[in-house]
Amino acid sequence: MSENSERAFPANFLFGAATAAFQIEGAAFEDGRRASIWDAFSREPGAVIHADNGDVACDHYHLYRDDVALMKRMGLQTYRFSTSWSRVRPDGGDLNPKGVDFYSRLVDELLEADILPWLTLYHWDLPQALQERGGWTVRETADRFTEYALDMHDALGDRVNVWTTLNEPWCSSFLSYAAGIHAPGHYSDAEGMLAAHHLLLGHGQTVRELRARDSSLNLGITLNLTVADPADANDPADIDAARRIDGQFNRWFLDPIFRGAYPSDIMADFRRVDAAAADALQAAILPGDLEAISTAIDTLGVNYYHGELVSGHAPVVPPPVGEAPTDRPGRSPFPASDGIFWHERGLPRTPMNWEVQPEGLTRLLTRVWREYAQPADVTLYVTENGAAYDDELVVDAGEPRVHDAERVEFVRDHLAAILDAQDAGVDVRGYFYWSLLDNFEWAWGYEKRFGIVRVDYDTQVRTVKDSGREYSRIIAARALAP
Ligand code: NOJ
Repeated sequence: MSENSERAFPANFLFGAATAAFQIEGAAFEDGRRASIWDAFSREPGAVIHADNGDVACDHYHLYRDDVALMKRMGLQTYRFSTSWSRVRPDGGDLNPKGVDFYSRLVDELLEADILPWLTLYHWDLPQALQERGGWTVRETADRFTEYALDMHDALGDRVNVWTTLNEPWCSSFLSYAAGIHAPGHYSDAEGMLAAHHLLLGHGQTVRELRARDSSLNLGITLNLTVADPADANDPADIDAARRIDGQFNRWFLDPIFRGAYPSDIMADFRRVDAAAADALQAAILPGDLEAISTAIDTLGVNYYHGELVSGHAPVVPPPVGEAPTDRPGRSPFPASDGIFWHERGLPRTPMNWEVQPEGLTRLLTRVWREYAQPADVTLYVTENGAAYDDELVVDAGEPRVHDAERVEFVRDHLAAILDAQDAGVDVRGYFYWSLLDNFEWAWGYEKRFGIVRVDYDTQVRTVKDSGREYSRIIAARALAP
């Protein structure tokens, strides 16, 4: 790529920012909303750092008009948000009209501001009442999800065209039911596998139903995908470690969605490490499930934060030990991670201990485009990318400012990586920075700030950071200036 010339984005490229209901809305028990699994989990001792919860968060439920006005001032073309199932169907069953009304008002506000609403139906906040009936480990939850989706379509289908079923099902299955790190905080590989299958089933049958109602909808799913590199590209044990991480993270979701089959190598790995869990999974896959899961989609959302350098050998230089958010024990989210080690390669790391690896995004988009999206006529969007840094609020010439130079560079480098992918022939049509606002970072509570807008949690004052200002400049120019 040339460093000195301006690099323009195609005319159809959308610039946006993303959030999720539980992370920003607050108003946790207002207007009929009831507990989600994250309300319950965040009240368990040791589950979330500082015992933070989502009761108030960014108070977006009350401040949404100001937040939309801010997005407009920043020049965002689209806004990716999620609807809260616990607000709309508080017990997973009957509809709560006041909950639906909030999203209707939000959508109207966005349209009024000329911002395209990009709606995600599930960003991890399952109604607790459904968790008490087994959550995603039971098939019924997939059916309840489809009913809830159809309610949302009844209410918003006249104004919302882009519908994402799930956000990052790897997190809401393996990280939540197998690794104990996310709600509901369970430690069972079998539950992780069942949850992943029922999430995918909920996705597929929802796409099918929405498509039957309105063939003009833009339907899709957002996956968190990674680039797994072997520490030594000639070492069979390292190559196998990379295969297993790629398989459990990426292909376990991409293959059933795009090819109607779970990857057989990973199925065999699951059986090797836990035959009972593999049996439970096989028993849960009913005839017709994979046809439903592979119902054609229009859009694949790619969330990319970092890659992995993995090996079958213990590292000589261990990677910096990731500080655990809490004292709660964690477990591997990869059922077949026996004998896999992460290695250090000297890339910069964010305070999440995540490597900063923009070129990984170019490789990821290129691979996903060639192997999955292009053959299926599916469009790619980067639906999340961002970084937490230890921002400081300062006063400059009487103005509050956040000089987050590292995030400015992070955004620019990842946008350049997207341009590189486009140069390689990848049709990627948009970028959503995660996140518009600092917000509730799950087990990390409010400690990690990902926003291009700072939130003061005492006053709810929003301050656009330097990264937000730079993003606005890029959007206005529709180019990366040198
Ligand atoms: C992915 C998730 O979708 C989002 O909820 C989370 O806050 C970011 N990654 C950062 O961890």
